[in-house]
Order: sequence, then C-alpha cells, then structure tokens
Amino acid sequence: MILDELRHPIVQAPMAGGTSTPALAIAVCEAGGLGFVAGGYRSVEAMQADIAAVRIGTTAPFGVNLFVPGVRSVTSVAVDEQSVDKHAVDAQALQLYVDRLGPEAEHYGTQVGVPRPDDDGWAAKLSALVADPVPIVSFTFGAPSAREISDLQGVGSQVWLTVTDVAEARAARSAGADVLVLQGVEAGGHRGSWLDVDEPEGLSTFALLRLVSRAVDLPLVAAGGLIDGPGIAAALVAGATAVQLGTAFLLCDEVGTHPVHRERLGGDTPTALTRAFTGRTARALRNRFLDAHTRGAPAAYPQVHFATAPIRAAAREQGDGDGFNLFAGQTYRLATGGSAAELVKSLGAQTRQALATAATRAEP
Ligand SMILES: Cc1cc2nc3c(=O)[nH]c(=O)nc-3n(C[C@H](O)[C@H](O)[C@H](O)COP(=O)(O)O)c2cc1C
Repeated sequence: MILDELRHPIVQAPMAGGTSTPALAIAVCEAGGLGFVAGGYRSVEAMQADIAAVRIGTTAPFGVNLFVPGVRSVTSVAVDEQSVDKHAVDAQALQLYVDRLGPEAEHYGTQVGVPRPDDDGWAAKLSALVADPVPIVSFTFGAPSAREISDLQGVGSQVWLTVTDVAEARAARSAGADVLVLQGVEAGGHRGSWLDVDEPEGLSTFALLRLVSRAVDLPLVAAGGLIDGPGIAAALVAGATAVQLGTAFLLCDEVGTHPVHRERLGGDTPTALTRAFTGRTARALRNRFLDAHTRGAPAAYPQVHFATAPIRAAAREQGDGDGFNLFAGQTYRLATGGSAAELVKSLGAQTRQALATAATRAEP
C-alpha cells in the first residue's frame, strides 16, 4: 500500500485550474509526501504532458485526479428519483443567472461565456490512464462505473474516491474503491459531493472521519481544514491513514496561485460556500463577485463555469481579486508558503511533535 510507505503522511491535493503544478507534485514526492497531478479542466494531452513531467522529476509514486462528469455521478450512486430530478439543470434559472452576468462581463471588457454541458474529456482521459498507468487515480464529484474502476485496477492503479458523507462512503466501498478521501466542509475549492444538491448538513472533517471509520473498513485520507502539525496529528488519531492538504500549499513557490489571491490569503476575509463561480458548491474567500452572485447562482455545473470563465479570466488578467474565485479552506490564515519540500518536512516533524505532546497529556 503506497500510503504506508510515505515518509510523511501528507498528500498534496490536486488543484485544477493551474494552481497545482508538476513542480509541486515532484517537490512533495521527493520530500516524502504524495504528489498529485490535477487532470480536471486539462485536455488529455496536457494531462499526459503533466504526467510525463512528474515522471522526469521523481521516481516516487504519485496520483492523477479526474472530475467525474455530472450525469455519471448521478447514475453511479444509488439515489432516489427525486434527487436525480433535483440534479437536473433548471434552464430558466441558468438563463436568469447568465443575464445577471452581463454587466459583470461589460465591467471587465469581455463577454459572458456560452453555458454548455461538458464531460471534461472523460473517456479519453480514462483510456489514456489505462494505456499508460499511474500508481493512483483519484476522483471527485462521484464514482466511475464498476467496469471503469476495475479497468484501472487491472493495470495496477489504486482507485481513490472522494466522499463527503457516510452514504457516499458506503457507495464508494461497494463500487470497489481502494482508498477514500474524506472531504469535510472546511475544505477549500469544490465540494466533492456526488450530487450537487443543497447539503442538509455539511459534515466537518472530524465528524466525517469518525462516522466513516466506523462504517467502512478502507484506508481513509482526511481533507479539509488540516494545515498544521496539530491538525494533522488529530486527523491521524481520529482514524486517517494520511491527510490531503490543499490550502496549506497555496502560498508555496511551486504553486500557480495568482498574486492577488496570494495577497488576500494574507488578509482576514472570511470564507464562504458559493455556486457563483462554477455552478457547483465551492469554498472561497469572500469577494465582491461572491457576495453579489451567491444568491441566485443555480446548481448548474459546468454550465456556470463556462459562462463565468471569460469574466474570471479578464479579472485575473487585470489583477482584480474581486472578479474571480479565490478558493481557500477555513484555516487559510495558518498557511505559510515557502518551498513545498520544506513545508512537507516541517509538517511531518510538527505532526510527530504534536502526537508526542498529546500522548503525554493522556498519561495518568
Ligand atoms: C484551489 C483549490 C483547487 C482544488 N481543486 C481540486 C481538484 O481539482 N480536484 C480535487 O479532487 N480537489 C480539489 N480541491 C480540494 C482538495 O482536494 C481538498 O479537498 C481541499 O483542499 C482540502 O481542504 P483544505 O483546502 O482546507 O486543505 C481544490 C482545493 C483548492 C483549495
């Protein structure tokens, strides 16, 4: 099991959209953690180029992450008819939202993008990963079919599935997952939920970890709000085999975080969950766009992603942090940055220290 052989129980979260890079994955792998290539939003060729770059930089195991397209994530988990209906895109709500984006586009001197469904090159990416296997393939937004999972396992890849509640964890187990990534509501970026319905609960990382530990007998990787040694130590004690960190790396040298995003991570703005940027629930720092558009943003992924894409790109280019998504988890104020290798080693040492300190506290 790859997780048991890591020098530090730290997985670098795949962060699509140019945030995580092959250089980040290499640095994390070489430091004794586990690096990931973010396959989401990339063409199959770009994903293959990233994999090739990581292989040049390290011989250590690494993973590739894919987004499960919407319709599949609905069909691959046992859900009742009502939830499937709820998942269907409301065309009228989407049009209303697109209309509301007009003035935003004008403000940034661009046009609203064309909202369209898209499967992010699903079949081509899966075929590429079966033809040229990598040690781990992780998925978010649902589960592949049993056949797709066994095809990957058949060529020697471990399959990791992201889950956000106990029902998804059980379904992931039945689907044949090797490892579960438990994503708590504290996490930065998109919620990895299998259905993008309004969440009744939104379990924290620790609630999820304890509940799933009792329900499913698989190695668990905890994600969400874990950013320093004491937090990582606590997750390990609570049942995680390793932790997956996203926000912790956002200020690192090897990461493609926009300069304005970096600047705001040094501030004190609260985070919030929103569908405003992509149509799927995600956690970001509050900014003008998020505050103006969260109400009324429909559950329409990836249609909203495509509609807002030119606006976000223009705002990025203009260095306006009020016009694009500043993804961050709830504990972002503790992010330090520097070299990713140093960060992994330092977090590993802090974790061991925190575990030792906690053990002395528990002594009679
Ligand atoms: C900027 C950003 C981009 C992300 N992109 C992805 C992604 O492409 N795939 C994925 O599975 N998770 C993605 N995530 C979520 C992470 O896998 C992980 O669940 C989260 O970062 C953990 O919480 P933390 O940010 O508090 O560490 C992203 C997170 C961030 C902050």
